[in-house]
Amino acid sequence: MTEHNLIQILNEALGWELRAANMYAHYAANIRGINRLQLSPLFTSEATESTAHADIVRKAIVKLGGVPVTERNSHEIIHTTQFDEMLVYSLETETQAATVYSKIMVEIEILGDQDLHDAIEQIYLAELRSLEELRLLME
Ligand SMILES: [Fe+2]
Ligand SMILES: [Fe+2]
Repeated sequence: MTEHNLIQILNEALGWELRAANMYAHYAANIRGINRLQLSPLFTSEATESTAHADIVRKAIVKLGGVPVTERNSHEIIHTTQFDEMLVYSLETETQAATVYSKIMVEIEILGDQDLHDAIEQIYLAELRSLEELRLLME
């Protein structure tokens, strides 16, 4: 994989992060019922985390000489006020994130950029933690 391809896949991750920030903020505002008490803060912190991830990925793209995307991934954000539907769409989103970052990790290891490796690995591990948390929440 060339650096050009790495930039492309980092941009794919950036698009998903921008979408996740949007989706989680939307769900934090729209959730109804007793679950709002716990899930609204959770969604807000996921939105904040996605924005932080986007920032790291954006800077990595610039460092590699690329141009970061400004548009979110176009996968539809489905409006709902139901917490269980939100959790399903959250799990879907975290699964996408974990998949794209696992692909990036493989390519970075081939490239041998230690700084980039460490930065992206932290994000990848955070996605796996979110995924596991969501799985437990949905049991
Ligand atoms: Fe993320
Ligand atoms: Fe995430």
